[in-house]
Amino acid sequence: MNNLKRIGILTGGGDCPGLNAVIRSIAKPAMTYFGATVIGIQDGFEGLVEGRMRELTPKDIGGIVNVGGTILGTSNKGDPFHFPVETPQGVEVLDYSQHAIRNYKDWELNCLVAIGGDGTMHIVDKFTDMGLHFIGVPKTIDNDLSATDVTFGYDSAVTVATEAIDRLHTTASAHHRVMVVEVMGRYAGWIALGAGLAGGADAILIPEIPFSWNKLYEHVLKRSKQGSRFSIICVAEGAKPAEGDIVVREQDKKRTDPIRLGGIGELVGEKIMEATGLETRITVLGHLQRGGSPTPYDRILATKFGSKALELAWQGKYGHMVSLRGTEVISVPVKEAILKLRTVPPNSQLVLAAKAVGTSFGD
Ligand code: F6P
Repeated sequence: MNNLKRIGILTGGGDCPGLNAVIRSIAKPAMTYFGATVIGIQDGFEGLVEGRMRELTPKDIGGIVNVGGTILGTSNKGDPFHFPVETPQGVEVLDYSQHAIRNYKDWELNCLVAIGGDGTMHIVDKFTDMGLHFIGVPKTIDNDLSATDVTFGYDSAVTVATEAIDRLHTTASAHHRVMVVEVMGRYAGWIALGAGLAGGADAILIPEIPFSWNKLYEHVLKRSKQGSRFSIICVAEGAKPAEGDIVVREQDKKRTDPIRLGGIGELVGEKIMEATGLETRITVLGHLQRGGSPTPYDRILATKFGSKALELAWQGKYGHMVSLRGTEVISVPVKEAILKLRTVPPNSQLVLAAKAVGTSFGD
């Protein structure tokens, strides 16, 4: 049995629907059953380094299960081990982990629950090695963490992207156009695959299956010759041609992952129009996929994750991350969770099912 009098919570990295449901499912029982004080750290690890926090009240955590974003704020620029600092010479990236440790100790935390993606879990692992009591909760729309079957946020993102494809279908068919839709996902094609399959996209391009330009043109032209007067192409932001590279929108060394992807949708649209002569339009869904209310699936998963995280804190299973295996929420050592990213196996059932219904992956 652990002393759980002061529990910290932070949300790190890009936001996703379901974060507030996790915060609620940790804080409510912590306050009600343990009489604990719950410290909300602001803007992720940035707030831990800079000493920004506030004590959460029951009012803060009421009525938020259905609210997107995070009541705590988040940041993808505050890695304490690579902390960006403005100096007269420009931005310098320095190790500020001791600032974070000092605040953790000054706030007398018994445990800190960090809700985040891959970058956050790497930081959790380092602090665990330094003796701090961290618990990890995986989140990301990208669904790219190998130690859990699903992350919350993914279902909400796929729901938005599927609805977008449904809407693009009607206008594509009315104007006999090729519609390219670029979705997020970083280096994994889960969102493109999920939404492309659910939305009946004619081609899905994902990072795990580099595509051939010619095969893509042929697929679109073949559809057109067979009388289908429109095509929908769902492109993951990390997709790349077999002879080419990913398209990077920007590099920013302040970010935990300095690379910001984006632009492949534009390139695919332009090249299709040029090579086939078919009228083409491009839609980039961007942050619409991260905004708004979580789906019921994500609210439920997030609530199960939060309550398991509190159980781990109670058991003193620090350095562990909650994880979904089948239908059970279990825990895994964070060290194992960060070993590799979970990408789409090119021969997975989902890919084969999509191919079976005539979807091209450009391979
Ligand atoms: O990891 C979540 C994610 O939305 C990725 O899919 C995307 O590449 C990235 O974050 C975008 O980051 P930002 O919010 O900095 O634009």
